[in-house]
Amino acid sequence: MSAMSKPHAAITGVAGWVPEYRLTNELLETMVDTTDDWITSRTGIKERRILKEAGQGTSYMAIRAVKELLEKTGTGPDEIELIVCCTVTGDYHFPATANLIANGVGATRSFGFDINAACSGFLFGLIAASKFIESGSHKKVVVVGADKMSAITDYTDRTTCVLFGDAAAAVMLEPNEEGLGIIDSILRVDGTGWPYLHQKAGGSARPATHQTVDAKEHYIFQEGSTVFKFAVKKMADISAEIMEKNGLKSEDVAWLVPHQANLRIIRATADRMGLSMDKVMINIQNYGNTTAATIPLCLRDWEAQLHKGENLILAAFGGGFTWGAVYLKWAYSKTPG
Ligand code: ACO
Repeated sequence: MSAMSKPHAAITGVAGWVPEYRLTNELLETMVDTTDDWITSRTGIKERRILKEAGQGTSYMAIRAVKELLEKTGTGPDEIELIVCCTVTGDYHFPATANLIANGVGATRSFGFDINAACSGFLFGLIAASKFIESGSHKKVVVVGADKMSAITDYTDRTTCVLFGDAAAAVMLEPNEEGLGIIDSILRVDGTGWPYLHQKAGGSARPATHQTVDAKEHYIFQEGSTVFKFAVKKMADISAEIMEKNGLKSEDVAWLVPHQANLRIIRATADRMGLSMDKVMINIQNYGNTTAATIPLCLRDWEAQLHKGENLILAAFGGGFTWGAVYLKWAYSKTPG
């Protein structure tokens, strides 16, 4: 690598935290008109974790994930220079949840901000954070994907309540001079998609009133089949596009790390990339769709199987609409081989 070339931003550690409480398909059968068979065949989900601690929000989970990350990477809280929190369920509209996380982990020398890109949040946050590393201005950056989806889920609406769960996961980003780390990304938004997946009230366009609460407008609204059609096409297209752009063939890709919204969307993406399912990280059965947490949670669950130099494609589609793909070379091995 020449002295002039920029360092890559590499993931040097991963950690995650999920609540203890398991909301199973069997339990959902007693809450709404649904069946384990419908949920499993349409989505792949078997159970989700729900944060039950009273008065606790997304930062409660994120702080636990980041504390574990610091422990695993041997990093002191004062060494963190930036915390990027990707979430659509921040503790408050303001301040940013990144501030609460910094406070909770004792990161007294860090700045931070939140990124709102729904299910693509982690990819958008990862790429935003990588620019601070590539520019040389920052050397230790934490990217957290965290969502308490249960806070905005209507547990009487069978079309959404079976889909979502709560979780947080985080990665450490540091400069890499060996050519490993984030190599390329393609990120997109299409605002015409907003009506099909959003929270109707509580923002400045429609502040909370008795009427908005009565009309259940503070919950996730989704026109599932429309979102499904876009998601299936866009996530597969952009994953194929990033492979083509970087001259990658299917045999060059060690892992696809897809956002976990629906097993059928994941399969379509893997198909389009020419990957067999044993090269695809899937934990949707255990956690459901945890929005910004799904991708780092997969990295956490598969960390022991990842090897230095392997090519990973991260891909997501979410509300907004937002979507994207990231190509990175994994930068470390936990186990030899
Ligand atoms: N149990 C039983 N029946 C159900 C349930 C349920 N839980 N939910 C819906 N149904 C019914 C519907 O009412 C409908 O019945 P009808 O035909 O009598 O009207 C039927 O099942 C089919 O409904 P669809 O919505 O067409 O089902 P579909 O096959 O599209 O699956 C799903 C629904 C799983 C939501 C799918 O559309 C999907 O995965 N969408 C994309 C989700 C996604 O990727 N979101 C983006 C990320 S999320 C984010 O950004 C926050």
